[in-house]
Amino acid sequence: MKSESAPFRLEDYRPPAFTIDRVDLDFRLSPSATRVTARLSIRPNTADAASGRLELVGDEILLKGLKLDGLPLPASRFTALPSSLSVRDVPNTPFELEIETEIDPSANTKLMGLYRTNGNYCTQCEAEGFRRITYFLDRPDVLAVYTTRIEAEKADAPILLGNGNPGESGDIPGTTRHYAIWHDPFPKPSYLFALVAGDLGVLTDRFTTRSGKPVELRIYCEHGKEARCTYAMDALKRSMKWDEDVFGLEYDLDIFIIVAVSDFNMGAMENKGLNIFNDKYVLADPDTASDIDYANVEGVIAHEYFHNWTGNRITCRDWFQLCLKEGLTVFRDQEFSSDMRSRPVKRIADVRTLQARQFPEDGGPLAHPVRPEIYHEISNFYTPTVYEKGAEVVRMLRTILGAEGFRRGMDLYFERHDGDAATIEDFLACFSETTGSDLAQFKLWYSQAGTPQIVAKGHYDEASRSYRLTLAQNVPPTPGQPVKKSMHIPVRFGLIGPNGEDLDFSTVSGGKVEGDVIHMTEPAQTFVFHEVAARPVPSLMRAFSAPVRLAIDLSSDDLLFQVRADKDPFNRWQAAQTLAMRALVAGTSDAAQGRHVQVDPTLVSALAEILEDETLEPAFRAQVLQIPGESDIAREIGQDVDPDAIATARRQLRLGVTRGLGARLADRYRAFDDHRLYSPDAADAGRRALRNVLLDLMVASGAADAIAAARHQFETADNMTDRLAALSAVSASALAERRHMLEAFYERYQGDALVLDKWLMLEATVPALETLDRVKTLLVHPAFALSNPNRVRALVGGFSSSNPTQFNRADGAGFDFLADFVLDLDRRNPQTAARLLIAFRSWRALEPVRRGLAEAQLRRIAASDRLSPDTQDIVTRTLA
Ligand code: TRP
Ligand code: ZN
Repeated sequence: MKSESAPFRLEDYRPPAFTIDRVDLDFRLSPSATRVTARLSIRPNTADAASGRLELVGDEILLKGLKLDGLPLPASRFTALPSSLSVRDVPNTPFELEIETEIDPSANTKLMGLYRTNGNYCTQCEAEGFRRITYFLDRPDVLAVYTTRIEAEKADAPILLGNGNPGESGDIPGTTRHYAIWHDPFPKPSYLFALVAGDLGVLTDRFTTRSGKPVELRIYCEHGKEARCTYAMDALKRSMKWDEDVFGLEYDLDIFIIVAVSDFNMGAMENKGLNIFNDKYVLADPDTASDIDYANVEGVIAHEYFHNWTGNRITCRDWFQLCLKEGLTVFRDQEFSSDMRSRPVKRIADVRTLQARQFPEDGGPLAHPVRPEIYHEISNFYTPTVYEKGAEVVRMLRTILGAEGFRRGMDLYFERHDGDAATIEDFLACFSETTGSDLAQFKLWYSQAGTPQIVAKGHYDEASRSYRLTLAQNVPPTPGQPVKKSMHIPVRFGLIGPNGEDLDFSTVSGGKVEGDVIHMTEPAQTFVFHEVAARPVPSLMRAFSAPVRLAIDLSSDDLLFQVRADKDPFNRWQAAQTLAMRALVAGTSDAAQGRHVQVDPTLVSALAEILEDETLEPAFRAQVLQIPGESDIAREIGQDVDPDAIATARRQLRLGVTRGLGARLADRYRAFDDHRLYSPDAADAGRRALRNVLLDLMVASGAADAIAAARHQFETADNMTDRLAALSAVSASALAERRHMLEAFYERYQGDALVLDKWLMLEATVPALETLDRVKTLLVHPAFALSNPNRVRALVGGFSSSNPTQFNRADGAGFDFLADFVLDLDRRNPQTAARLLIAFRSWRALEPVRRGLAEAQLRRIAASDRLSPDTQDIVTRTLA
């Protein structure tokens, strides 16, 4: 096995010995030998500069020339390697270093640094890609003002884009080349640098900020796809307005550019004034994008735009502070989408994602704090914990301080830290100062990993008319953190009375309760609510007020009552999920022992009532009718997991629900078939969501008329949402009709890579034994490309993270396949390979046979002597 490099530790942070104030870049673009000249204005920054040794980092780059204050440096003064440039005897006063490097964008398959996509040039510099362009102090606490000159063949690259505002441009006389100069007046770290050059189509618009400043808006994409950018443009303008209205934040440059590219490792990147997007988060029209795609476009456009303040104007001191920009920006995009759509439905969707992605991370070998304290490879820390749990921590801060106190803290943060590379301590200090709150215990949310468990017990005493609520918290051990302290957990609550209204109480003893928030701060606390008129059903963690697991001993009848009566829609949904989960967990042991799964009539009544309740919005009803998925059940069971038993239990339970709902399903399905003209708005999307959940339940029964309805919808739909839902219902039930329908879908959309990703994903998630062979066949299908992360995630990621029974096949063939694939992809694109490997993160929770097979494959990967640092890091931690 390869020896590991030394880790980076938060406690080792030191400011840089030198810093860089100005960066003048000159790119002479050429497909396989691009020349970059970087003129850096450097000055001593700490006493360490007295050593006269300047250490710059690089990554796979070639030095072509080096000058200090205009004079070529003799070889004795420096050492240049592909990964570093070390210069000796530099002055202890400001100086200019001119570095010329050569790079090969066509050979750059890692998609970090400068690379080619669809014949165009683009960059990705977060977190450590700038060092693949030139030698630099490639760390976020070095803030410089950048000027970029880009020169290229006019025919290959008529469009030349950089950060900031456009400057001079023109032809280069006597050549077929041209150039453009861009200047960004806002000091920024190197990870926010970007450049795009190529032949692209554009959609343009304008926005006037609330102080009257006009801003030119442009979205670039592949020629011919401009019309598919209109929804993204609309989302951008709404984001700009929302940030003014809700946070008082205005845009700051003359121009804001988005470029959609096909080859991209992540979702999108917030480069100053020049956001670069994975095209799946830009392009949308009714025929090719589903309602979920539209919502994702809106959310990601907003997220990247909001980074202009939370990330760019105020950046991170070091990568340990990543959640300072990511958690906060996710919180902001969630709030935006809640305001644009339905707040309760958005909350349910976000919590579903958190529970499906962050909870397993927090409960497995890859668990880490929201602010990690040690890392080997920073790209592996763009995680659900940093992003989604990071957003929950900001949300709790608002719950604890109140909306008004939270806003005052945010205002101070923007005012005090504009232009800074800040820390979590800086952020929290703004809230302590403006609200006078002591956030010392709250800060544990940033340093303690693991999902806290709360056990709640309630008792109503008729005689004294008091209600005793005992809450106990436990934060489980996680890697490197065996013992935990008690956390400050805000528990939003209500005591639901017999008529469905929240009951009043006079006083509370036992701890701090403010309005409808219980502040839990001790390992165990008993809160006594006085003068409570009747026995209440407690509604705890309303709107999911903290990212915890709650165990409460409510009877099925109490849960049913909560589904009917809770004034908090989130908890109505949660109560229905809990009822379903109980049945699914019991059903799994029944299935494992060959017994038939029992369907609790209480659950069916709850679902039936929600389905029929016209006062509730359809999108909410759709969420309630979507019972927990196979991975949710596996997580709940937690050990000796048998994915086949889970799938059987879930299938049988859904069958029971379908029978129990009977004719109501088809009636409602037809009632929503109102042939409106397609609109992606939340209300219409909600109607489609409900109708398609019903279709899915009907189809799962395998009944001929249900399958006929699905085929009819598939063939006649005027939008992707309905077409895909019909196909997916048939495909997910592994019905014979799927082959013909999948084929028809492929024929219809061949040539449209983003739509074919949906097809690859459906093929990869069919719960049938032949799927693995099908996936292997598709690896050589023209619709697939190893070089494109979207294709890889759809096919291989679909198989390994969304097909529990087939990835976890009892013969280990699924594990074997993923290990082979990751080893192969790792040589080409380590970031994407390491991400795929995360599919193994819950291997220890499997039953012994599968656990052994998974471990064997992980050990095989670990034994390889040429792993990238990315994959090395994931495999090592997964096995630890
Ligand atoms: N900052 C980006 C975001 O969340 C994340 C990102 C985009 C990224 N591309 C990346 C992170 C490549 C690591 C590597 O908006
Ligand atoms: Zn982000």
